Amino acid sequence: MAIYPIVLTQQTFTHQDNLTYPFEERGLQFGDGIYEVIRIYNGSYYLLNEHVDRLFRSLDAVKIKLPATKEEITDLLLHLLEKNEMTSDGKVYLQVTRGSAPRDHVFPADVPANLYAYVQDLPRHLENLQKGVSTITEPDVRWENCYIKSLNLLPNVLAKQEAKEQGCYEAILHRDDLVTECSSSNIYIVKNGVIYTHPATNRILHGCVRMRVEKFATDLSISFNESGFTKDDLFDADEVFLSSSTSEVMPVIRINQKQIQDGTPGPITRKLQQEYERDANITENNITHSL
Ligand code: PDD
Repeated sequence: MAIYPIVLTQQTFTHQDNLTYPFEERGLQFGDGIYEVIRIYNGSYYLLNEHVDRLFRSLDAVKIKLPATKEEITDLLLHLLEKNEMTSDGKVYLQVTRGSAPRDHVFPADVPANLYAYVQDLPRHLENLQKGVSTITEPDVRWENCYIKSLNLLPNVLAKQEAKEQGCYEAILHRDDLVTECSSSNIYIVKNGVIYTHPATNRILHGCVRMRVEKFATDLSISFNESGFTKDDLFDADEVFLSSSTSEVMPVIRINQKQIQDGTPGPITRKLQQEYERDANITENNITHSL
């Protein structure tokens, strides 16, 4: 893994070795902040505007004021790639917290928000994308505002760890019987040629790739139904897949050790993967070419 030493802090660029994180940082002490993960292919961002839009929606929702416009943040993020001479597949992690101040639940007065962003290499999960992944189901015990990309990820972390300990890739979350999303991705089933997913309410993150999946479905004349589905529907589905900036369109072939249909990715999932590769200008390491 390459180390990218230039980090965006506040609104300037700093060498990684010069970074100092104060202990009394509200992100650290309260999880009082929000974040984004943005995909990079061949040194260029994918869905950058969508991520910047969601960043500002999250900031508004938690009342963090960032003294910069969307255009300025976009420019800074573009410069971050240039400064690091990024040319491969990767991701940027960006975090904004309410700032550094003596610990007190109440917002500190006149304290600037802290903004950090850094680049990492991230090769595509080609084998998983081709063969599909195993998952588990877990109760969704998160708060009601999952549309905010908040730093408070403990329920997500615990669910993903449970998946890992059971040899699985992801945990599918459900509130009572209704499936919401996964610990770090959105989830869909296909039944009789229709894609079903949870509606874009406050109970799920409105994924940037989810928005694209909806568009791909429309382009392919496949119905995209946002009425949601139940845990039982998962096991009775023709196809199951998940989506995120790091997982792309990922086939799910097993849930709680039960195989979905014949245990191989279904035709609609494959079509969406092809659309994704086309949309993201992925020309090398193409899934369908290497199948
Ligand atoms: N996760 N739902 C949750 C809970 C997520 O954390 C994510 C993203 C998504 C998909 O969002 P998008 O399509 O915009 O990546 C859905 C990122 C990748 C992460 O936390 O690492």
